[in-house]
Amino acid sequence: MATKDKTTYVCSECGGTSAKWLGKCPSCNAWNTLQETRAEAPGKNRMQALARGLNAVQPVTTLADIEAADVARTPTGLEELDRVLGGGIVPGGVVLIGGDPGIGKSTLLLQALDALSRSMPVLYVTGEESGAQVAMRAHRLGLDGSKVRVQAEIQLENIIATMEAERPSFCVIDSIQTVFSDQLTSAPGSVAQVRECAAHLTRVAKSSGCTTVLVGHVTKEGALAGPRVLEHIVDTVLYFEGDTHSSFRLIRAIKNRFGAVNEIGVFAMTEKGLKGVSNPSAIFLSTHSEPVPGSCVLVTLEGTRPLLVEIQALVDSGGPSPRRLSVGLDRDRLAMLLAVLHRHAGIACFDQDVFVNAVGGVRISEPAADLAVLLAIQSSLRGRALPKGFIAFGEVGLAGEVRPAPRGQDRLKEAAKLGFTVAVVPKANAPKKPIDGLTIHAVERVEEAIELARSLS
Ligand code: TYD
Ligand code: MG
Repeated sequence: MATKDKTTYVCSECGGTSAKWLGKCPSCNAWNTLQETRAEAPGKNRMQALARGLNAVQPVTTLADIEAADVARTPTGLEELDRVLGGGIVPGGVVLIGGDPGIGKSTLLLQALDALSRSMPVLYVTGEESGAQVAMRAHRLGLDGSKVRVQAEIQLENIIATMEAERPSFCVIDSIQTVFSDQLTSAPGSVAQVRECAAHLTRVAKSSGCTTVLVGHVTKEGALAGPRVLEHIVDTVLYFEGDTHSSFRLIRAIKNRFGAVNEIGVFAMTEKGLKGVSNPSAIFLSTHSEPVPGSCVLVTLEGTRPLLVEIQALVDSGGPSPRRLSVGLDRDRLAMLLAVLHRHAGIACFDQDVFVNAVGGVRISEPAADLAVLLAIQSSLRGRALPKGFIAFGEVGLAGEVRPAPRGQDRLKEAAKLGFTVAVVPKANAPKKPIDGLTIHAVERVEEAIELARSLS
């Protein structure tokens, strides 16, 4: 029975609906996110037939009686991508990959498609480029004679029909925002279209066992465009990030039902596509021949690998309302650290502009960066460089205490391996046995760390 279409309002953040327009989404409380869409009449949807197989009543079993099955993973042949995926692709797994335009999503996926095409049927559906453009990229990547099947298509029904005919084991939809379905009255690219198309493709992936990668656009704010529900319906969410001016690219898992999150993969964009960087520990250091004021090297731990990243700070006399800006670090955290610096170490920056940057376009979310940020700020303020071969890490609390960072030993070993000689670390991270070539100063309080940095520089 066909019901009449009527207008509803859909939240672009969470996908929640409301019968009338409201300034605030009733589901997620976001402001100004409700957009007018035409409600779909139920039952007329052809794709619902496809899903029907999944709607059969499933038996109920006691958990203890269910045999745990580990999913088989197929490596993609790109080691750094496999690392974030948790070992490789999983049959029926749906991966959403987001990132700024031009960061290299299509390049990475084309490389993965080509590598996988040697062992399984693969399909590349492109809605943004023509087949000729894809061929040009493949040529540039040195993938002549590739067996990747390509379809330039944006209509959902046609894509699903192709998937049924070609039966690929690995399929890439580039991008989900370009896909639209005739069955929906809302405009292509709208929240309802993106959400419904992603949901259908997910169902097809689950029922056919085809690993599906959806490429997603990123909004100005850095979130995946389209409703947040996209992130809920897929198994894995990856973000591709990096500074388009530098050649390094990081791929990060935000959610992964088949592996660990916070693992990162590192690539370098070259003339011939993306190359994995298997030993990335020192790529985020800038090359000063002599130490400069306002710079402090941090050992951060992303996933399982320690990375050395340079934190730069510039403290400069500001106007009546001084600015606090940070690139790659959390700005609220910076404000908090400045307050701690003032209150517990007596260093005031309230009349100064403070800029902080993590070199190389890397984004650091772990609090273990705190100590390095504080030391870089005090170094800039005093105009005195920290000594050569200096590293620091540790979380700073509001009471001025320096808290330990996870896996301190690994961080220190990596720093020693790369020739660093002096380290300021939280007391609990001080190793029991000395580490060759590294002088370690263990601190408990912020003022101790600042005092120590002063005496060293
Ligand atoms: P692309 O994969 O098209 O980005 P996205 O799909 O995320 O929008 O990446 C395009 C950029 O990468 C473009 O600026 C050119 C650059 N590039 C290289 O430097 N080397 C290469 O081999 C290729 C294919 C692209
Ligand atoms: Mg692209």
